[in-house]
Amino acid sequence: MATQSLPQCLLCFLILSLSHFLTFSSSQLSQTYIVHMDLSSMPKVFSDHHSWYSSTLFSISQHSSSPTTFTADTTGNSNHLYTYTHVIHGFSAKLTPTELSALRNSPGFVSSIPDLVGKAHTTRTPKFLGLNSQSGAWPQSNYGKGVIIGLLDSGVWPESESYRDVGMLDVPSRWKGKCVSDSAFKASMCNKKLIGVRSFNKGLIAHRPDVNISSKSSRDNQGHGSHTSTIAAGSFVKSASMVGYANGSAIGVAPLAHIAMYKVLWDDHAYSSDILAAVDQAIEDGVDIISISLGYGENPLYEDPIAIASFAAMEKGIFVSKSAGNDGPGWWTVPSGIPWTVSVGASSIDREVGATITLGNGVSVFGSTLFLANSSLAKLPIVHVKNCANDDMAKIGYKIVVCTTNDYDEWDDEYGVRSGNVAGGIFIIKSSQIESYLQFSYPAAFVTQEDGELILSYINKSSNPTARMDFRKTRLGIKPAPIVGYYSSRGPSPNCPAILKPDLVAPGTLVLAAWPPTSILTGYQGDYYSPYALLSGTSMACPHVAGVAALVKNVHPEWSPAAIRSAMMTTADTLDNTGAPIKDHGGGFAPADPLAIGAGHINPNKALNPGLIYDASTEDYMRLLCSMNFTMKQISTITRSSHFNCSTKSLDLNYPSFIAFFNADTANGTIAQVFRRTVTNIGEPMSTYIADLTDMGEVKVSVEPSKLVFKQKHQKLSYKLTLKGPSRVHDRVIQGSLTWVGNGGKYVVRSPIAATNLQIIDGGND
Ligand SMILES: *[C@@H]1O[C@H](CO)[C@@H](O)[C@H](O)[C@H]1NC(C)=O
Ligand SMILES: *[C@@H]1O[C@H](CO)[C@@H](O)[C@H](O)[C@H]1NC(C)=O
Ligand SMILES: *[C@@H]1O[C@H](CO)[C@@H](O)[C@H](O)[C@H]1NC(C)=O
Ligand SMILES: *[C@@H]1O[C@H](CO)[C@@H](O)[C@H](O)[C@H]1NC(C)=O
Ligand SMILES: *[C@@H]1O[C@H](CO)[C@@H](O)[C@H](O)[C@H]1NC(C)=O
Ligand SMILES: *[C@@H]1O[C@H](CO)[C@@H](O)[C@H](O)[C@H]1NC(C)=O
Ligand SMILES: *[C@@H]1O[C@H](CO)[C@@H](O)[C@H](O)[C@H]1NC(C)=O
Repeated sequence: MATQSLPQCLLCFLILSLSHFLTFSSSQLSQTYIVHMDLSSMPKVFSDHHSWYSSTLFSISQHSSSPTTFTADTTGNSNHLYTYTHVIHGFSAKLTPTELSALRNSPGFVSSIPDLVGKAHTTRTPKFLGLNSQSGAWPQSNYGKGVIIGLLDSGVWPESESYRDVGMLDVPSRWKGKCVSDSAFKASMCNKKLIGVRSFNKGLIAHRPDVNISSKSSRDNQGHGSHTSTIAAGSFVKSASMVGYANGSAIGVAPLAHIAMYKVLWDDHAYSSDILAAVDQAIEDGVDIISISLGYGENPLYEDPIAIASFAAMEKGIFVSKSAGNDGPGWWTVPSGIPWTVSVGASSIDREVGATITLGNGVSVFGSTLFLANSSLAKLPIVHVKNCANDDMAKIGYKIVVCTTNDYDEWDDEYGVRSGNVAGGIFIIKSSQIESYLQFSYPAAFVTQEDGELILSYINKSSNPTARMDFRKTRLGIKPAPIVGYYSSRGPSPNCPAILKPDLVAPGTLVLAAWPPTSILTGYQGDYYSPYALLSGTSMACPHVAGVAALVKNVHPEWSPAAIRSAMMTTADTLDNTGAPIKDHGGGFAPADPLAIGAGHINPNKALNPGLIYDASTEDYMRLLCSMNFTMKQISTITRSSHFNCSTKSLDLNYPSFIAFFNADTANGTIAQVFRRTVTNIGEPMSTYIADLTDMGEVKVSVEPSKLVFKQKHQKLSYKLTLKGPSRVHDRVIQGSLTWVGNGGKYVVRSPIAATNLQIIDGGND
């Protein structure tokens, strides 16, 4: 997809458009590395891993040509950024090329990876998800009471009403984390809601020593972290809106869960050395759930900081939710499909924000806009301009202009209207990613083709056409909803194509949540400020899933991260609020396929009681890694263990979804692909499940057995799914599903199936 450089952009997309770059210094300069070490090689003279790493660093600096690089003092040296305890065996440090090569020859050295920089990828949404105080997940889970959600983000605005702790339980006694004061944040600002706040910026400072010290606080001056954390677990706030838009009460998905913020996102940059340190700390502190709304480019799993950190979290039973990315709608745009996390795509809700456009004949239509000023355009002449990009705009005068745009010139049209001295603009658009570009600096709105026709025909018929525009309007009950966001990243994932990603979608388009009241909303002259803001992105979808995980965790504290994921995926919705299959904005509003929507749209009420679970253990993930042709060294950077062998390997992880590649160069034969799965009965002891398969055209699907009869709770039964088709299928993606229908329809355990001819691209293996 060609991307356009756009004058307007919703906040979140400003973040996302920032280029993803590595700050490689010239070869003489030092650079930050994540260094993996083999802990079993640690000489016995060292009391702990930290002193071994420090000593190793000290000894290589002695041999380097720049002996002044390290200052050996009792607390270690300034170029030793972090010692990691849980996420990897190793440390991060700033090293010159000479030091790096000396380190490579040091005992216990496994590998080194240059520090990477990641990018960041809200409140009717709980209601849209069906959460209510009468029945279902909220009352059953006590609103996520007592569960601790840790977020890796840009900090918090502690004064936000969404962090008030009314009705919260005391801080759990198992909690070992704390709030750390700094120049702009005081530990005393924490409470029973906000129980941990810390900053991780050694990686940042190593890369950018000139960074403004006064801005290095856990306080969120940018907004992303306040937004994501209050989506997951914000308290109830009676009236919230973004200067009038999306007005209503604001509430998080798990309003009685606790929040711990680990600040790693600084001016939209997150360094992998800081991320590893943050997850290390979160594991130490005792979080139950981690939400990560940021990501890196394509890296093999063994060099992917989030894959590495989340593996350690998974082993400790911590559920990790991660945004899929905002690089859709092309294929292969989920850069990191980590098999032990949940990858979350983004979709819309049933709300529209914008302006009411009332024509002189009394007919009114709704236009989408986030023009912030509290102003209306009273009855003004309205004209249709064929080419709004041309120079005549200046001659039109104080009128409302209607532009018929298409995907190629709409931004030129927009520029023409903005720079002409007209009163306002109405843009009739075909498709496009309007949710990202609603932030007009002058009175303007987007309308659909259908509404555009109405306006044009009125102009055509009337001798003196007029219109008025009233801004700051919000409409609810919009149909159809949800719709998968245009920008939401699509699978397959290049670094693990065998697992279908994204896993599911959650609300991400125009979500209202807390915002620093000092942070600008648009960047335009005469800007607006608001304690709540509307943002779009998979960054907003991810904490919804973290919140739902908190609800599930409250009810089923013993469930593994894989079990929680399975519960969410197998109960996800596939139909929208009109009863039709959920559509895909990026796919021309056709039904979304599994590479866009995963298993479907998250349904928290159903996720508490899925009937069957597809579980997976650390050993299962190791077998998967073994089958990916990584070296033992590469695998051990993820698993931190050298005490394993790849005697059993399998790409066929016990996962609640299926992806099969039928992508040979030519279709001149039939191939069969077989998947084996084991489900655990967590519903009634005596349960019978019948398989229901959908037709997949040229791919024939079968399941054996097609009936599963359980006699007790926690009993496991296995089945085999076979896909037979031509070695190359015709369609890009053929979608299907396998649904186990239990106890006459009481349980519906659905798994999506994707058969695709997409070519497997190299996942960055070097
Ligand atoms: C650094 O922070 C201070 C205090 O917030 C501010 O006044 C100053 O402009 C900042 N400098 C830069 C270069 O951002
Ligand atoms: C939002 O404000 C409008 C106008 O004041 C009001 O009619 C509407 O009920 C409000 N919506 C919500 C959800 O509070
Ligand atoms: C917007 O302007 C109208 C009329 O000028 C006024 O009554 C209203 O209170 C204003 N609303 C806001 C949110 O400032
Ligand atoms: C305007 O009206 C004329 C004559 O009635 C018609 O031919 C033309 O198609 C109309 N144009 C639009 C845009 O409706
Ligand atoms: C691993 O290597 C073997 C042999 O080269 C190849 O057949 C197989 O497809 C590879 N597996 C993966 C997951 O790349
Ligand atoms: C691999 O590990 C398994 C389980 O720990 C063990 O039974 C087996 O003997 C090992 N194989 C080799 C070749 O070391
Ligand atoms: C398809 O044809 C090619 C060359 O003609 C052959 O090498 C390949 O084995 C065939 N594949 C199948 C699945 O028959």
